[in-house]
Amino acid sequence: MSPPKLKILLASSEVYPFAKTGGLGDIAGSLPKALRQLGHEVRVITPKYKVTAKCPLGFRPMGRDIDVPVGPALKKGFLYESRLAEGVPVYLVGNDEYYHRDELYGEQGREYPDNPERFIFFCRAVLESCKATGFFPDIFHCNDWQTGLVPVYLKTLYAQDPDFARARTIFSIHNLAFQGNYPPARMTAAHLPPHLFRVDGLEFYGNLSFMKGGLMFADLLTTVSKTYSKEIQTPEFGFGMDGILRSRSKDLYGFLNGADYEEWDPETDPLIPENYNAKNLSGKQECKRELKARFKLSLPEEAPLFCMVSRLSAQKGISLIMESAEKWLADGAGFVLLGSGEPRFEEFFLNLARKHPAQCGAIIGYNEELAHQIMAGGDLLFVPSQYEPCGLTQIYGLKYGAVPLVRSVGGLQDTIQEFQSASGSGNGFKFRPYENKYLLQAVKKALSLYKQKNTWRTLMRNGMNQSFGWDHSAGQYSRLYYKLLSH
Ligand code: ADP
Ligand code: GLC
Repeated sequence: MSPPKLKILLASSEVYPFAKTGGLGDIAGSLPKALRQLGHEVRVITPKYKVTAKCPLGFRPMGRDIDVPVGPALKKGFLYESRLAEGVPVYLVGNDEYYHRDELYGEQGREYPDNPERFIFFCRAVLESCKATGFFPDIFHCNDWQTGLVPVYLKTLYAQDPDFARARTIFSIHNLAFQGNYPPARMTAAHLPPHLFRVDGLEFYGNLSFMKGGLMFADLLTTVSKTYSKEIQTPEFGFGMDGILRSRSKDLYGFLNGADYEEWDPETDPLIPENYNAKNLSGKQECKRELKARFKLSLPEEAPLFCMVSRLSAQKGISLIMESAEKWLADGAGFVLLGSGEPRFEEFFLNLARKHPAQCGAIIGYNEELAHQIMAGGDLLFVPSQYEPCGLTQIYGLKYGAVPLVRSVGGLQDTIQEFQSASGSGNGFKFRPYENKYLLQAVKKALSLYKQKNTWRTLMRNGMNQSFGWDHSAGQYSRLYYKLLSH
C-alpha cells in the first residue's frame, strides 16, 4: 500500500514567477511542482509584492482577510490565490504598507528598516492563513530567515492550538549569511515571550535572530547541497551559527537543489533566439551571434565568449573576476555580464565594458529573459564564489552548453567535475584556493581546450546530457517528511 499523501505548506519570501531576486525564488517555484507530482497536496505561501502584479499567472482575491498582531497594532492581510503550473495553489499575502514597494528586501544596498516587522507579519500570516483557508498542513516547509519565526510560533504561541497539533516543521537554509538579526525590542513586536531571548533560544550576539529561530525550533533542518551541509558546521562557513548547526548535525540534511527544466532547457526555451540540444548544437551558434550583437561586440568568430549572470555581491567571487579580467581579455576572450548589486561592482563592470567595447559588455539590472539568452550564447560561465550553498546558474549553464568554471565550494563542488582531456570525462573547470592565480590557471586550461573544437564539444555535451531535475531531491524531501511524521 502506498503511504498516505501529505499536506505540505511551503513558505517562502520569494516564489518564481511571482517575485524573485535569486535562486530561492526558483526553488520555491519548482520544488512544490515536483512534490505535487509525487502525489502530495502541496500549497505555497508568499507575500504579494508590487512586482507580483506583473506575473503572467495572475491571481484573484479570495475574499478572506486575516488579522495579524505586530507590536501594538493589528495589521490586515488580504489573501489572494493563484496556481503554479501543475495546479499547485499559491496563497499571496497582501499588505500594501509592507509589500507594495519597488524591491523585495531593500533599495540602494540598504535593507528596508521595517524588515523585521514585514517578516514578523509574514510568519504569523502563514499560520493565520491556515485558519482562514482551512488548509492545515502536516508539514510546514520554511525557507531562510524570512520564515524563521514560523517554527518558533508553532512551538510557543500556537503550541496548544489543536489545529496545529500534528504539524511538523522543516527549515531549509539557502544562505546562512542572511540571518535577519535585529535589536531585542523586536521581541515585543513579534509578541514573543521575553524568556525566549536567551542563548539557547532566539538571542544571537545581543540580537533577536530569525535565522536562529528556524535553526533552534524547527523539527528538522535541510540545506541545498551535501557539501554545504558540512561546510556550515565549520567556523569558516558557519557565519557564527556553526556551533548551533553542529549541535543539530543529526537533524541536518543536505539535498541538492533541482533545476526546473520546464523553464531551463535550450531545446524548448521560448526566450532564446534559436532552440538546440546536445545532438544538434547549430542553434547555439545563432544564440551566440545574437548575444554578441545585443552587447555590440565585434569579436572574431573563433573567440570564446565568457559570461556571468549573478547577484553582484562579495559572495559571488566578484573580486577574483575584477583582478583577472584584463588578463583573459588580453588573451582574446569576450565577456558579457548581467547582474546587479553592490555599486562598486556595478561600476567596475560598466567601466570594463567602456574600456573594451568590442570585447566586453555589461548590463546592470535584473532581466530574466537576458539571463536565458546569456546561458544560450555563452561558451563559459564564471561562478568563482567565496561560498555557494547550491548555485543554480552553473546547473543551467551545464544544460545550455555554457561550460561552468567554478570555485570548488558547496553545491559547485557537488555538481561540477573537472574535465579530463585524456578520458574525455568531466563537465567543467574548478579551482580551490580563493586566489587569482588559481582562477587564471583554470581559465588558461579552458582557453586552450576551446581551440580543440571536438574536445570542447565533448565537454559541452557531457554537461548538456546530465540531469539535475527534481526527481531525486523531491523524493529525498518526501522521505524526510514521512520520517518526521512517524516520530
Ligand atoms: P543566488 O540565489 O545566490 O543568487 P543561484 O545561482 O542559486 O544564486 O540563483 C541565481 C538565480 O538568479 C538564477 O536563476 C539566475 O539566473 C538569477 N539571476 C541572478 N542575477 C540575475 C539578473 N541580474 N537578472 C536575471 N536573473 C538573475
Ligand atoms: C541561495 C544560495 C544559492 C542557492 C539558492 C537556492 O540564494 O546563495 O547557492 O542555489 O539559495 O537554494
